[in-house]
Amino acid sequence: MKNQVVVITGGASGIGKALAYRYGRAGYRICIGDIEEPALQGTIDELINDGITANGYLLDVSSETSMHTFKEAIVSEIGTPGIVCLNAGVGAGGPIESSSTKDWEWILAVNLWGVIYGIQSFLPALKQENDGHILVTSSIAGHLSYPGMGPYNASKHAVLTIAETLYFELEQENSEVGISALCPGLVRTGILDSNRNRHEKYQLPALDQEDDLTDRKELIEEIYANSLSPDVVAELVFEGIQKKKFYIFTDTAHHDHMRIRHQMIESGLNPSLDGDLIDHITSGINEREN
Ligand SMILES: NC(=O)c1ccc[n+]([C@@H]2O[C@H](COP(=O)([O-])OP(=O)(O)OC[C@H]3O[C@@H](n4cnc5c(N)ncnc54)[C@H](O)[C@@H]3O)[C@@H](O)[C@H]2O)c1
Repeated sequence: MKNQVVVITGGASGIGKALAYRYGRAGYRICIGDIEEPALQGTIDELINDGITANGYLLDVSSETSMHTFKEAIVSEIGTPGIVCLNAGVGAGGPIESSSTKDWEWILAVNLWGVIYGIQSFLPALKQENDGHILVTSSIAGHLSYPGMGPYNASKHAVLTIAETLYFELEQENSEVGISALCPGLVRTGILDSNRNRHEKYQLPALDQEDDLTDRKELIEEIYANSLSPDVVAELVFEGIQKKKFYIFTDTAHHDHMRIRHQMIESGLNPSLDGDLIDHITSGINEREN
């Protein structure tokens, strides 16, 4: 890679922050764009204190103008990046019937439009250099349709197919620009607290604030507390991009469900979720961390 600059949207916490550390320690210059100003400043200070060259930009990935300004600032002040991680994302849940229009709009604005704006802004610059790599963060929810998280599933399926389509298009053009799709399982991050970054225009009326995750919240928090470390994910991304891997999975916890889904489709059968989800998750994570 010619340009040793890594751009990370949503790099102030979680997986994005771990990516900043992984690439920063390898000598790359880090440019983080994030909507959460104190976390952004804190992460940039930490990186700099640890000897990593890092710049922070206030960014709302759901705004085309904000993404464009972010890209212009980086290209003019620092240069064309070598790696662009379109990582910013939010999670919220609830059955489809009770997901409000604002839930849908918010999740799609950040998780889907954030990736579209990111590709539109950075791809031309990478193609001009005929070099570089884009990482789109999908999820295991881009391959499966677990109940209770309809808007999130839709956003992650959408960005996965965008990344796959772009993969084929770049291949047809014999472009040296690469693309990967990160498909994490459960990772210990701030995602359960995504509402901290929910813009006013997507807020629910006060009475509707409690979502349908409430009754499952404790269980979900417990599962997340025991889930994969973001540092493991960052290492897998680092290795995956080096090897130009398209699909970057973080564990095998959901592979049985994926296999079942593909078999059901091929066989013309109805969708099925076989087995106990928690057992799958736990055994898959153990397998990865051992
Ligand atoms: N944690 C998991 O289990 C998991 C699993 C699969 C996929 N993912 C995906 O990983 C990505 C990173 O999430 P995470 O788990 O590290 O969560 P996180 O909440 O720790 O980090 C998300 C980051 O995105 C930022 N952000 C949110 N809205 C933004 C906006 N509009 N503009 C710019 N930045 C914004 C947040 O401030 C935060 O720094 C997301 O795309 C998420 O969907 C996470």
